Amino acid sequence: MTTKELRQKYLDFFASKDHAVVSSASLIPENDPTTLFTGSGMQPMVPYLLGETHPMGGKITDSQKCFRAVDMDEVGDSRHTTFFEMLGNWSLGSYFKKEQINWMWTFLVEEIGVDPKRLYITCFRGREDIGIPRDEETAKLWQEHFTKICVEAEIVDNAERDGLQDGRIFYYDATKNWWSRAGIPEHMPVGEPGGPDSEMFWDFGEELGLHEKTEWAGKPCHVNCDCGRFIEIGNNVFMAYKKTEHGFEELTQQNVDFGGGLERMAMALLDDPDIFKIDLFAQSRKILEKITNKKYGEEKKETYAFRVILDHLRAATFLIADGAVPSNKDQGYFTRRLIRRAVRFGNELGASDLFTSDISQGFITTYKDTYIDLVEKQDLILFELTSEETKFRSTLESGMKEFEKLLKGFEMAYEKTGNKITEISGKQAFKLYDTYGFPYEMTEELAREHGLNIDKKEFDESFEKHRNLSREGAEQKFKGGLADTGEMSVKYHTATHLLHAALRKILGDHVEQKGSNITAERLRFDFTHPDKMTDEEKKKVEDLINSVIAKNYPVSYSEMTVDEARKKGAIGLFGDKYGAKVKVYTVGDPGCISKAEVGSPTFSMEICGGPHVEHTGVLGKFIIKKEESSSAGIRRIKATLE
Ligand code: ALA
Repeated sequence: MTTKELRQKYLDFFASKDHAVVSSASLIPENDPTTLFTGSGMQPMVPYLLGETHPMGGKITDSQKCFRAVDMDEVGDSRHTTFFEMLGNWSLGSYFKKEQINWMWTFLVEEIGVDPKRLYITCFRGREDIGIPRDEETAKLWQEHFTKICVEAEIVDNAERDGLQDGRIFYYDATKNWWSRAGIPEHMPVGEPGGPDSEMFWDFGEELGLHEKTEWAGKPCHVNCDCGRFIEIGNNVFMAYKKTEHGFEELTQQNVDFGGGLERMAMALLDDPDIFKIDLFAQSRKILEKITNKKYGEEKKETYAFRVILDHLRAATFLIADGAVPSNKDQGYFTRRLIRRAVRFGNELGASDLFTSDISQGFITTYKDTYIDLVEKQDLILFELTSEETKFRSTLESGMKEFEKLLKGFEMAYEKTGNKITEISGKQAFKLYDTYGFPYEMTEELAREHGLNIDKKEFDESFEKHRNLSREGAEQKFKGGLADTGEMSVKYHTATHLLHAALRKILGDHVEQKGSNITAERLRFDFTHPDKMTDEEKKKVEDLINSVIAKNYPVSYSEMTVDEARKKGAIGLFGDKYGAKVKVYTVGDPGCISKAEVGSPTFSMEICGGPHVEHTGVLGKFIIKKEESSSAGIRRIKATLE
């Protein structure tokens, strides 16, 4: 079975259980200030898990593109990737544990033929202090399925201490079997949904001897020990709780959030513990083998380089298609890092000519039937890759020059003093790294060639200092976001609709949203417009928005098909994202249907998932802080509410 067939089988299976199939949301979350990337299938579903009505009903299934930047440095082993697809099925207040476990069992064992003897299960151990019981119900449900086909399935505890103990179903604590966007219960902000989960693991087999080759050797092996023998292929989250000021309360509805790694399921079916062996990588791997004249898997260091290149360029391909072109900021910064690392590892394999677009082309071909936008945006993707690669290669060159300057300096000092310098200081190495983008490994290699050492300790100190600074920045962003999903970002979200409508009224209908980003402090809006806005235009836009705020227009929504929405003159970016039915938010009188004139009762009508304020009066004063160019033909406005 190909991975494409696996994806389709999963979606078809849940469609046959009355689930609406929706297409993947973008890797770049819209109007979600909590995070830069979509990192799980659940992220776009949060409002619905909390009780909002989903336009497609209470049972949804999809395969969601995900990107996890935190895993970038882990890539190179047999199973970490930054980009992956998460197969998802959701019950939004519909079914619960019994149906979910039953369907999951049927899908894995009967539909795709997973050998149940190689399947292991984990459940939540329970936490008295927060009033959430041990999930015995789920453990028993699994046990019944195994027992029915005569596979032994003992439920045991303390595997992390005592190992497998011939068990099949294991209880673990909240660090393993509790799911929320923020992690364990302690880390969840008030208002955040979460719940106990039950994970499924595939056993690659003790006989591979993986455990003994790792840092875990000597300790008991168990499904969560990370030695690589077991791999998690899916997670059933029973999302039925919400954190409040006074502890955990049950949500008004019982939800299921299932997320399963598509690629990991494919690994299990292939029974190969190397994710880069699955078919989704085959085409690009072959291209890379041809370019470098090397074979994947033959030599350890080269295998590592192959994996980094394949993972990073696949991620960059999808990120660019979703709008994250390489840059120094936000999402684009990660695209840039991915490409640069890929080039660096390409050099290690001897790929000295431009090669990133060839690898990307392989992925575009592989995914062309599933993600048509990759083909549509092919020119842009290949152009961005090549131009970033070209830029980075010249950076490498100037780094080389800087290195040579350093050597010259050493020689001159020697001539002058008669003392030979044998060490590059950590600060010098860090400058090469930080200012010239020169990878440390490269400095190290060159130093070796010239018989020099590097003060690695000083380099590490500078590096740590730098990393802590950027980490602090990232944490700040996360905190600012999650703590605040409430009021301010909802206000900025509504203000963004007002801005979008106002720009079209003042500048013209050519204005289209190209990007939106909201924090607790401001909104940022990118849109198509050829010229810099004049002061007069800016003032007009502000005045118009403030007049709508002053009139305290109601904000409401109704559900309709995309066609109906277009006919009513609604604007919006979502295309067929939610399939046939969409939500349309109206600011002003929703009864007034035609395209709105300045000041008319229907001010804005936009396809959008929400949420929004109920009346514009609560927004305060709208002020444009900045209007600038974002890229060719695209302007960017930063605005605040005061
Ligand atoms: N949301 C759950 C996860 O990401 C399914 O693991």
